[in-house]
Amino acid sequence: MRRLEALSRVHDRDGFDCGSEPLNRYLRETARQHAERGIARTFVLVDSDAGECRPILGYFSLTLCQVIPGKLPPEDARKLPDNIHGVLLGRLAVAKSVQGQGVGKMLLGAVLEKFMTIFEAAGGVGLFVDAKDEGAQRFYEGFGFVPMPSNPLQLFLPLKTIQAALRCRGG
Ligand SMILES: CC(C)(COP(=O)(O)OP(=O)(O)OC[C@H]1O[C@@H](n2cnc3c(N)ncnc32)[C@H](O)[C@@H]1OP(=O)(O)O)[C@@H](O)C(=O)NCCC(=O)NCCS
Repeated sequence: MRRLEALSRVHDRDGFDCGSEPLNRYLRETARQHAERGIARTFVLVDSDAGECRPILGYFSLTLCQVIPGKLPPEDARKLPDNIHGVLLGRLAVAKSVQGQGVGKMLLGAVLEKFMTIFEAAGGVGLFVDAKDEGAQRFYEGFGFVPMPSNPLQLFLPLKTIQAALRCRGG
């Protein structure tokens, strides 16, 4: 059975390959340290029957981010004060061996649920992501992310879109 777990020593970080070396390297070399130091949290999708050294099918990392309202699309920036925050999807990647099978979509669903947990405890105007290229930008746009006016590789998923998506899933 596939299960989402917080990254730990039982996961096979070295064996993960999503086709992007910076994303592989982050998981291998940085993600655990960032979790220990409170910089970001990383969650991995694994086959829970796999025992020790579980192969990682995909992962994502989340952190909090400060939001400058003036950088948001104008309709989202209206009436927002200056000091606000959101959640940054710092990284999302799926192992090459299972790409194109809905794993990315499933991980994004899990990201939205994590967002809501944070939102219920501390607020947050939406989810932000830096797409690594135009292909990744299209992937995120397919889920309702809106490009920021100043840089289309930076995208934003407003709170109301997240709430509507979770309502549709019965969440
Ligand atoms: C981008 C990535 C996360 C997609 O994961 P995946 O498991 O292959 O995607 P899924 O099978 O869940 O696809 C979900 C939807 O996104 C679409 N999609 C997937 N990759 C896409 C791309 N590069 N461009 C546009 N759409 C894409 C699929 O067609 C599918 O649409 P549908 O639901 O209408 O059929 C994965 O290919 C990956 O890890 N790539 C390397 C790292 C990367 O680019 N990360 C992005 C963060 S910067």
